[in-house]
Amino acid sequence: MKATALAHPNIALVKYWGKRDDALILPHQSSLSLTLAPMSVTTTVEFGVAADQVEINGHVSKGSERERVLRLLDALRAEGRQALGPARVVSRGDFPMAAGLASSAAGFAALAVAARAAAELPADPKSASVLSRLGSGSACRSVQGGFCEWQRGERADGADSYAVQRFDAGHWPELRMVVAILDRGEKEVKSRDGMKHTVDTSPYYPAWVKDAEAEVPRARDIIARRDLEALGDLCERNAWRMHATSFAADPPLSYMSAATLGLIQHLREHRKKGIPVWFTLDAGPNPVLLTDAAHEVAAEALARACGALDVVRCVPGGDAVLRTEHLF
Ligand code: DP6
Repeated sequence: MKATALAHPNIALVKYWGKRDDALILPHQSSLSLTLAPMSVTTTVEFGVAADQVEINGHVSKGSERERVLRLLDALRAEGRQALGPARVVSRGDFPMAAGLASSAAGFAALAVAARAAAELPADPKSASVLSRLGSGSACRSVQGGFCEWQRGERADGADSYAVQRFDAGHWPELRMVVAILDRGEKEVKSRDGMKHTVDTSPYYPAWVKDAEAEVPRARDIIARRDLEALGDLCERNAWRMHATSFAADPPLSYMSAATLGLIQHLREHRKKGIPVWFTLDAGPNPVLLTDAAHEVAAEALARACGALDVVRCVPGGDAVLRTEHLF
């Protein structure tokens, strides 16, 4: 009753921003992301130990971090196919938290895949996606590689709210995402809190939901024909609109710094000179640049010229996989 899985983070091209059910982590709208290599998180789970124990990146987890892991495991234990008992979980990421990408998506995807295998359940991306969603919404898009679409679903129990893979990592191998670390600090308002505040107080929120839902099939069509310019435009538009909902919250919420805006301005000038580079931005100040293999060096140089302290170049990543070597 022990298994280990490795999963990659993902970056949303059409963002998830706001829950219709906070406990089950059910979104108001669908979203679409690209799984990113080479960064990964590896997690080992063993059931049937003396007491629940969670260790992430060398530290024993406490508080909400531990609670989120146990919620996911409790959901699996409640399936009741066999008594699983307390679990030991050890998780390790190969990228620093300060890489500007949420390691939680990769972490909960790896946890769900490893926990299901440790519980001797068959490999099933849909069930693993539903399970990982209970840890963090965006994690449900990291169970599979390439381009994954989290379908919001309709059911109150969340059984139809999971991600499906639309195109695998090999569909568009020359696509590149370049993470520009402008600020290594912890963000002041976590995604979870920022999106809740926005849902509760922003008059723009209903417009966001309608627009984002409509963008998902458009993004899918653009990815099908590998149209970088159209994807870049859609990506930027969607990021601006997500952030606009938060600017309009009460009190207002901005994740952008002066450096973020400076880089965005610079990027527009580069595009006028014919360099195909666009940005997206999650709930933090560090933009992720969308470009192709021929221009990733230019995108990195642009990011550094705009004050990036670090740059991480990413390629389309694959599915979460089981590993034979365990972390304990
Ligand atoms: C801006 O998945 O981290 O990155 O479900 O509350 O754990 P919880 O939130 P999380 O939010 C991600 C928000 C985002 C956009 C996205 O990844 O789609």
